[in-house]
Amino acid sequence: MSDASEGVSAARSLRHVAIIMDGNGRWARARGVPVAKGHYEGGEAVQRCVEAALKHDVPYLTLYAFSSENWQRSKDEVSDLTSLLHFYLRHKLDDLHRQGVRLRVIGDPQRFGPALHRELQRAEELTVENTRLTLLLALSYGGRAELVGAMKLLAQKVEAGLLKANEIDEDVIEGALQTHDVPDPDIIVRTSGERRLSNFLLWQSAYAELLFLEIFWPDFQDKDFTEIVRHYARRQRRFGRRPE
Ligand code: IPE
Ligand code: IPE
Ligand code: MG
Repeated sequence: MSDASEGVSAARSLRHVAIIMDGNGRWARARGVPVAKGHYEGGEAVQRCVEAALKHDVPYLTLYAFSSENWQRSKDEVSDLTSLLHFYLRHKLDDLHRQGVRLRVIGDPQRFGPALHRELQRAEELTVENTRLTLLLALSYGGRAELVGAMKLLAQKVEAGLLKANEIDEDVIEGALQTHDVPDPDIIVRTSGERRLSNFLLWQSAYAELLFLEIFWPDFQDKDFTEIVRHYARRQRRFGRRPE
């Protein structure tokens, strides 16, 4: 198969790319600039990544922007990241909307305070009809916290007599997750060279391909997205079956 057709057929079956955007701090340290600058440039990389997902017709893109554990960082760093989110919502949301992007938030965005939470809700409402690309932003997200939420929901249903314990199967659990209407990620990418999931999409990652890129997130370019598509095209997914 030629490189070009490989890219095209891969893009067709690639429905969901999920990215752990890591390395903003090290990018900044390597340049002797404040970490806030690394996060700002990380925001620019997000825009390049969204453009690339649109170009490759990938319908779902999940970006891990802030983990439930990232609250342990300094107040200054958290407030820099919060301001950055405000900035992007204010200045870039209309562009996203015009491009047919639907924005959705997973995680616990309420923890960022009522002002940002309201803005995020407004962004979700504004873009709810868009179908070209669903951009899931994982904010104050933790895979274990998501599973705790799902289990609580199911336990409440059992308590209320709406569900029997022996009716709980994989579909029922999936239906109680924040990503209930989103296909599982086909590939999970992490930048910065670290090789761990850091509490990202623990349930949904069961059969995801994993790709670790040796670049810091602010350096992410269009060609890196092409590399993700190519890498995915070369993988043979088996789902436990004997390959033909
Ligand atoms: C990822 O970059 C962004 C967030 C976690 C918010 P880091 O800030 O973790 O960058 P490193 O890992 O320190 O280089
Ligand atoms: C994971 O990165 C979370 C995000 C990229 C938002 P971290 O930098 O927080 O992960 P660890 O601490 O290196 O595992
Ligand atoms: Mg990191």
